[in-house]
Amino acid sequence: MAEREAVGVIGVGWVGLVTAACFADLGHEVVAVDVDQAKISSLRRGASTIHEPGIDGLLERNGDRLIFTSEIADVLDPARLLFCCVDTPPTYSGDADLSRVRAVVAGLRDDGEHALVMKSTVPAGTGAAIRRDLPDVAYVSCPEFLKEGTAVADFLHPDRVVIGADPRDAWAADAVAELYRPLGGEIVRTDVASAEMVKLASNAFLATKISFINEIANVCEEVGADVAEVSRGMGLDARIGPSFLRAGIGYGGSCFPKDVSALKQLAGNTGYHFQLLTSVIEVNELQKRRVIGKLTKHLGSLVGKRVALLGLAFKPDTDDMREASSLVLAARLQGEGARVVAYDPVAEDRASELLPAVELCDSPGSALEGADAAILVTEWPEFGELDWPAIAGRMATPLLVDGRNFLDPDKLRAAGFTYEGIGRGSGAGRP
Ligand code: UDX
Repeated sequence: MAEREAVGVIGVGWVGLVTAACFADLGHEVVAVDVDQAKISSLRRGASTIHEPGIDGLLERNGDRLIFTSEIADVLDPARLLFCCVDTPPTYSGDADLSRVRAVVAGLRDDGEHALVMKSTVPAGTGAAIRRDLPDVAYVSCPEFLKEGTAVADFLHPDRVVIGADPRDAWAADAVAELYRPLGGEIVRTDVASAEMVKLASNAFLATKISFINEIANVCEEVGADVAEVSRGMGLDARIGPSFLRAGIGYGGSCFPKDVSALKQLAGNTGYHFQLLTSVIEVNELQKRRVIGKLTKHLGSLVGKRVALLGLAFKPDTDDMREASSLVLAARLQGEGARVVAYDPVAEDRASELLPAVELCDSPGSALEGADAAILVTEWPEFGELDWPAIAGRMATPLLVDGRNFLDPDKLRAAGFTYEGIGRGSGAGRP
């Protein structure tokens, strides 16, 4: 790729915006297109459309290298590499919805001058199908592994960069490898189908780790063990590793639920029943609901009870509520007749659309005032700093279900709380 050739980005959601801003920060001209005119107008003013640490600074610093447009032609002229970053949400059948990817493909010129670089998560086999439809557009599978909340850092410091392409598209794969080389992660060159599977299999494996530790947590509750101690002991085995062994009220977000279900469905469509993933999904669903039992154990019926949710986003440092455990929890609590109030430091706008029947509060204190129970749903750091003894005095019943095992049980109990964690047994016997 010529030194000053622009990088094209199609779709400026989480992945697209971070990709565009980071490539600009590496010194490239970037032209990014999106069908959402409001998003483009906001980005042209330099205002980020997502809550993501570091993104505002990148947009500000690289404003002169970043062009946002709603016309695909503005991208096709200056850029040969077109990073496809549109979303592929789940359909009712669990398959990935590829309609936005198809719309991108339909808008390309089959002129032998471009390469479509697929960052969107797509079922294995998608690349081969697109390559057949557009014989003169090169195709590179380059799945994205960034995590929301640390997306900029993940992009700039990748563990690995996976690049899958047919030998005939080697020029495009080489150009993508050149773009990523300054970042230093190991570059894995492979075929398209294998690259597509790396992404699905990685997310499915991480989700499996979470469901596994959540089931261990549930057993810990029965036998009086503490899952945090169990994770610590397990994680020191280099073959297991410490990450993704935090028990809690289930995984959410835009990727795990969708990708696990898409892989299960992809296997099913070929006639293979992916038994393990079926259980991973079921365990995750049940895990969100187990909180209700922890409340009724202490409160009996939840009818008319005021229950405060602390955090709504699917994890801290993001305002993303896609597939957040809070959505299921709020609905289950309301189904039990509880009055649900909530506080989240940044997800309020999204929450007001998604949870219209939940009373949103502007501080943890106002959510907890007079509450019969609190559920820590998202481990925002500020919840660790709260004056818990004072809060215990202001709640109707100082009962806390710590859905992320984020707080110190001993401190909470000393503050007057009845503390319920996830898989923390009785807490007795800890050093
Ligand atoms: C994930 C993948 O990590 C990333 O590689 C991929 O590109 C997109 O999907 P993300 O969804 O942003 O990233 O968040 P992540 O930090 O992985 O957390 C996902 C969910 O798992 C969250 O709901 C989190 O609370 C939960 N989780 C994570 C656990 O319950 N326990 C853990 O040990 C880790």
